[in-house]
Amino acid sequence: MRLAAPAKINLFLEILGKRDDGYHDLRTILVPLSLADEIEIERREGEGIETVMQMDEIPAVVGIEMAGSEDNLATRAARLLQEATGCRAGARIHIRKRIPVGGGLGGGSSDAAAVLCGLNRLWGTGLSRDRLLELGARLGSDVPALLYGGAVVAEGRGERVRPAVRPEEAARSRWWGVVVHPGFGISTADMYRRYRPPLTNGSAFYHTLLIALATGDVHRAGRSLFNGLEETVFAKYPFLRLVVEGLRDEGALGAMVSGSGSSVFALAADEAHARRLQQRLAERVEADCWSRLVQTMPDGVMAAHDPLEVRV
Ligand code: C5P
Repeated sequence: MRLAAPAKINLFLEILGKRDDGYHDLRTILVPLSLADEIEIERREGEGIETVMQMDEIPAVVGIEMAGSEDNLATRAARLLQEATGCRAGARIHIRKRIPVGGGLGGGSSDAAAVLCGLNRLWGTGLSRDRLLELGARLGSDVPALLYGGAVVAEGRGERVRPAVRPEEAARSRWWGVVVHPGFGISTADMYRRYRPPLTNGSAFYHTLLIALATGDVHRAGRSLFNGLEETVFAKYPFLRLVVEGLRDEGALGAMVSGSGSSVFALAADEAHARRLQQRLAERVEADCWSRLVQTMPDGVMAAHDPLEVRV
């Protein structure tokens, strides 16, 4: 079975407060991207789970250690499904990484989401979407949103997910953009620890972004991007402010850090505009940043066609 596990960006991220369990309550709008890891899953006899990662297409990332096969989030997703269902089958999971790691693009979470959906079919364990979302939340805060697919609003720790737009509006906001990864990773936990509430309240942007998604208005979306963690990220990594401001100066409709970083994205009017931004940024920032042209996938994948795109 082959699956695409898309990256995500947060168009909006507001932190509402700290909880007793150490996590933060948040409200975020998250959209999947055309940039995706490719996953192949084979059923194996016995209960063994083996995950093999092919990393040759992503940049080397400073400051991030990749988990071995046993601790990998994809392996943990498979084990969790075994535990939850009593399933005795095993699997070999091959992941060709295209999403840089440690960059706030949700790659590891998306792999876990894809493995949960894929194995639920391959093993015939038949869990409902709600049950999969519940298991996903135990693996990581972004997993439920990526499991759900499409543009979503996630609240709580990230586990309460709903579509950001009505089904008939979803296809309108397939937008072009650029994603930039600076070559170093950022620890999400560290950014949440350092977080101090920003002076700007994001709520107005939240409502404007929902309208922009519903109407497909990328210009409005570009003006309304909001990330309450961004100043915290800039305080420790000033280079990222240069990247964001550089993209804005070069005419991006909007540019922002994704989640807790380290990746930055920019929205563009169309493909040619996105390509120009990518080139100008490369000329401007002397460091050798990895970047990709991307499209948002607001109508993707589970929302429209059941769990992620499965091509058997
Ligand atoms: O859930 P996940 O493993 O992605 O979160 C990584 C870290 O980010 C958590 O250990 C926590 O410190 C922080 N976090 C948080 N509030 C959230 C999500 C993550 O404090 N809603």
